Amino acid sequence: MKSGDQWKSKIGFIMAAAGSAIGLGAVWKLPYVTGTNGGGAFFFMFLVFTLILGTTLILAEFIIGRKTQKPPIPAYKSIAPHTPWYLVGVLGIVTSCLILSFYAVVGGWIFTYFIRSLTGRLTEPVSGSYETLFSSIISNPWEVGLAHVTFMLITILVVQGGIQKGIERVSSIMMPALFVIFIILVIRSLTLEGAAEGISFFLRPDFSAINRETILYALGQAFFSLSLGVSIMVTYSSYLDKRENLIRSATSIVGLSVLISLLSGLAIFPGVFAFNLEPNEGPSLIFTVLPAVFSEMALGSVFLSLFLLLLLFATLTSAFSLLEIVVSSIVYRFPNKRKIAAWGSGIVIYVLGIPSSLSFGLLADWLLFGKNFFDATDFLVSNILLPLGALLIAIFVPRKLSNPDMKEELLRGSSANEIFFKGWLFILRFIVPLAIIAAFLNVLGIW
Ligand code: PHE
Repeated sequence: MKSGDQWKSKIGFIMAAAGSAIGLGAVWKLPYVTGTNGGGAFFFMFLVFTLILGTTLILAEFIIGRKTQKPPIPAYKSIAPHTPWYLVGVLGIVTSCLILSFYAVVGGWIFTYFIRSLTGRLTEPVSGSYETLFSSIISNPWEVGLAHVTFMLITILVVQGGIQKGIERVSSIMMPALFVIFIILVIRSLTLEGAAEGISFFLRPDFSAINRETILYALGQAFFSLSLGVSIMVTYSSYLDKRENLIRSATSIVGLSVLISLLSGLAIFPGVFAFNLEPNEGPSLIFTVLPAVFSEMALGSVFLSLFLLLLLFATLTSAFSLLEIVVSSIVYRFPNKRKIAAWGSGIVIYVLGIPSSLSFGLLADWLLFGKNFFDATDFLVSNILLPLGALLIAIFVPRKLSNPDMKEELLRGSSANEIFFKGWLFILRFIVPLAIIAAFLNVLGIW
């Protein structure tokens, strides 16, 4: 996505932005953080944060991008010249590198699961359960290592060529297909014996299960699954036609992402309880539950392979956005250096991800603040850097753009009125910063 002409079509832009948003956040991360944070109450907070704060912030990022039509660092510089605000762009780029470092590891797990599902080495664990199968896979440095490299190579190769029309076309088939398989999966899961307990765990808020961290985790999850706080939405909207309706784009993206999160929970938790697994198992959750649910289905192994392929695709489109933001910033300064930029940054990010890839095997005892390297990186990104980036963007936009400028970008082409603008501005100016600061202070025990 080097030049402006690629996302000129509205659908192309929504596909790219939704492709960035929808990925492991909704399918892999949401079920496991919901499981480790007590269930329904977490999901409820995640929903509220996504709908209110997420929609507001995605619009704020769109405004910056479309107004300036530039990648993050120059975008912040052009709105607030000679100030340190461009560091918000730098923060976004650094955060994206960190996310991609562990994201590609999970992408690799999906890749290896997909290959295994094709060769029948997934549906029938030789000894014991799917849990033992999963831990034997992720503790094997060769298998995860190879899968990790492959995932990064695909990402680098696609981003190196600029994101082509092909991706746009493929995603418009793959995304709806993922959705259909999800529905089939949810139906099977909901009809398993013991499903009710899972539904109640997922959807019935038990607020006594909430502790200090839960609120921050729910906030982090909301930002993570909408790709917010790292200026990716700034980058993508910078290619958008001036006439497009930002509000409709934002609500479609948020709506799709929430829907997939809901479907993931409904696919996973009934299975967890039906097969007597633990909901608080952590990052391995979908890898141990899904094969078990699929194995209960007619043609289960075929559906499982198809599902993994589509999930791999959803994961790759998010990975492209993470690398693209880094590459587009380098290319802005050094035009014609796209290839070197993609390989250089891709290799650095790959190396950064090696300790994460070994975190469940060789380096399992390597702890930082009581967490393995993978979990520590995820914690730093999701619960500190993303909310921090989002906070800074929420402060930046109303301070550095005039009301008429914001209103003009926000409302152009839409039927929303002045009241919508005022409501949006109020949430951006007051509610978003207050919520993020309160969540931070709460974890520190100050509030
Ligand atoms: N939103 C992506 C997902 O849910 C992850 C992501 C986070 C991508 C932040 C870009 C930026 O999979």
